[in-house]
Amino acid sequence: MCGIVGIVGHSPVAPLLVEALKRLEYRGYDSAGIATVEHGELARRRAEGKLVNLQRKLDGEPLGGLIGIGHTRWATHGVPNETNAHPHFSDGVAIVHNGIIENFAELREELKKDGYSFTSQTDTEVVAHLVGRELAAGVPPVEAAHRALKRLEGAFALAIMFRGDEDLIVGARNGPPLAVGHGKGEMFLGSDAIALAPFTNSITYLEDGDWVVVRRNEFAIFDMEGNPVKRKRQQSLGTSFMVDKGNHRHFMEKEIHEQPEVIAHTLAHYLDFANGTSRPLDLPFDFAKLDRLTISACGTAYLAGLVSKYWFERLAKLPVDVDIASEFRYREVPLSTKSAAFFVSQSGETADTLASLRYCKAAGVPIGSIVNVRESTIARESDVTLPTLAGPEIGVASTKAFTCQLSVLASLAVRAAAARGAISSEEERAMVRSLSEAPRYAAQVLKLDGQIEKVARELAHYKHVLYLGRDTNYPLAMEGALKLKEISYIHAEGYAAGELKHGPIALIDEQMPVIVIAPHDRIFEKTVSNMQEVAARGGKIILITDTKGAARATVDTMETIVLPDMPEIIAPIVYALPIQLLAYYTAVFMGTDVDQPRNLAKSVTVE
Ligand code: G6P
Repeated sequence: MCGIVGIVGHSPVAPLLVEALKRLEYRGYDSAGIATVEHGELARRRAEGKLVNLQRKLDGEPLGGLIGIGHTRWATHGVPNETNAHPHFSDGVAIVHNGIIENFAELREELKKDGYSFTSQTDTEVVAHLVGRELAAGVPPVEAAHRALKRLEGAFALAIMFRGDEDLIVGARNGPPLAVGHGKGEMFLGSDAIALAPFTNSITYLEDGDWVVVRRNEFAIFDMEGNPVKRKRQQSLGTSFMVDKGNHRHFMEKEIHEQPEVIAHTLAHYLDFANGTSRPLDLPFDFAKLDRLTISACGTAYLAGLVSKYWFERLAKLPVDVDIASEFRYREVPLSTKSAAFFVSQSGETADTLASLRYCKAAGVPIGSIVNVRESTIARESDVTLPTLAGPEIGVASTKAFTCQLSVLASLAVRAAAARGAISSEEERAMVRSLSEAPRYAAQVLKLDGQIEKVARELAHYKHVLYLGRDTNYPLAMEGALKLKEISYIHAEGYAAGELKHGPIALIDEQMPVIVIAPHDRIFEKTVSNMQEVAARGGKIILITDTKGAARATVDTMETIVLPDMPEIIAPIVYALPIQLLAYYTAVFMGTDVDQPRNLAKSVTVE
């Protein structure tokens, strides 16, 4: 992953680079660094850990210069220490890189034979030396960069800067995103428009295989053969204000509490509440004519896709295949000519999801993407973008993006059901009415946070937790487990409740709480039987249910969290909130870094 930035400016550049990196920290926060050219000389500062460490270092040892590049790292090759932090130098050149150079081992051997020595364990340093070797042979900077780029295999977004030239950065993109920002007498490069938003809204996105020569007053984009290419310049929607936490302790807490509002915005985009219908969409396919829907995504977005399988199949009678994108992309899935494919992604940049999209596109399947970042690569490469209106999500653990993805997918399922004649207009109206109530129920559930905090205080004492659910509560159980493990580091598993007897039941003892998500739905009684099986083996149960379920569950629980009774279709959206709060408070009690948990990043642009 990693975030990169480059500025050819007219004021001291170091603070501007740090400002841009702050906005890119979601892409990784293992280490950070910047380099500038001042009086013709390259200089850098790098620091292990969060950006704040780099900032401290710069306070003590400032860097001058009007041109610079910066990097925030999510480690792939080499531990996250200062030596492996970017920018990497070779003689006369500084480089920042996002991605993985797949042929780095052979390039490294080749360069070693030529007498180059390596100070880091990174794949990036080979790029620095490749450019450095060309420079040493007398090749001018732009040509040196181009020659080096042609040697690279793998995924990269790069920014390259040269000793003795205070008006030149070369950028390149193959895989991870890179945007050129246009200023007045200054130019920028950045992993996304949000990073550049404090400086400019005028953006040109590079495409795969592009490289760019950026100077203060001009820029030129080329393909790998060196032919000039034209890319559209556009006004970015990226917001220039730095999103803050408001009165909340963490972004995650703020984002959990924003859900009633953003779910309402998202639903209103797809549903006409006044008429009780789903809004017409300009889709590149007709739901009525589809024989299959393929959904592919990663992480929490994948789990949103999995919930929607139940909706599309049950309501619209439309068979759905849901896949983890990293599996889908290599599985050589045969695709029906009468199918459509949906890709779900908060960032719109996840490498595996993007690769899956391209696989379907190559097979001629119409593509829809459910994304939160509307200018992202996935959005741009789709036939239709179906936005979630969650607003910027900063906490690495996805919360409001998830419930907004569910809101879009539920609306689409209703639309598909109506289009396929699987529901009557009366049923459509009832479903739209039910969905319109999701924000109100979500707000009510947030009021349970006192009780959930109490449960979390208890949960923080355990090392293992099992989440169980049936039907749409099964993917929700997996989401509950994912949230818990990613921010509290408690080992958690999410299982289909009916699958308990096929293995996980062996784990049950008083040391492993079992959280059961069981609203009083069509299969409530079955889940109660599974709870009995847990209770019979001394397992401690935390039950998340509704009023009816609480009255009918005939099992002793360690705690029962009672939500209001609500329509079945909105339950997955609303029940997401207690599991998010449970993970959040548990992590707070454990004292972990809630918004930036170890080893993770928000946007994953590597395989
Ligand atoms: C990372 C994030 C998750 C996210 C997943 C997919 O693992 O930490 O929160 O669900 O990537 O990201 P996407 O941007 O495609 O939704």
